[in-house]
Amino acid sequence: MNLELPELPFAKEALEPHMSANTLGIHHGKHHNAYVVKGNKLLADANISADSLEALVKETAKAGGALFNNVGQHYNHSFFWNSLSASGGGAPGGDIAAKIDEAFGSYDDFKSEFIAGGVGQFGSGWVWLVSDDGKLKIEKSANAETPLTAGMTPILVCDVWEHAYYLDFQNRRPDFLGSFLDNLVNWNFANKNLANA
Ligand SMILES: [Fe+2]
Repeated sequence: MNLELPELPFAKEALEPHMSANTLGIHHGKHHNAYVVKGNKLLADANISADSLEALVKETAKAGGALFNNVGQHYNHSFFWNSLSASGGGAPGGDIAAKIDEAFGSYDDFKSEFIAGGVGQFGSGWVWLVSDDGKLKIEKSANAETPLTAGMTPILVCDVWEHAYYLDFQNRRPDFLGSFLDNLVNWNFANKNLANA
């Protein structure tokens, strides 16, 4: 199986001023692309077969190391692009709204917990909304790790590596996370993932 850099599901300028075309050009075109190129080099020498990217992530996670790091980062970034929308942000509609109230008490409580999760991830990593045995919760993961390998179903993710926000927010990770939720989060994608959880 070969990794393929997906097209961004929006124009590079579409998320401005919340996420700049410059950030997306480097993040998608340089960082994500490097994971794809390196991952494919390592996969060429590995004897691994998988019929989906999710299966490949789980398979490469067993040994860890550089192969998993690149495959995991390809999965995480592909999931992140889909977690963003030019018409996103704000409180959700659809089935996810009631599930969030049930799990966190209210949308504002969810928002506080999601931001705290992203801020609390020391160093590089990710903050996720996941479904775990039918219940929504916040998970954080370091580097290329993903809750997929722990049997959870990812619903949404925000990248908290510095490369995701430094050009637009400098060191202000809490502001980046707040802006992600207020302006960019793609609840349609979340509802689709919830339906398949
Ligand atoms: Fe990233």
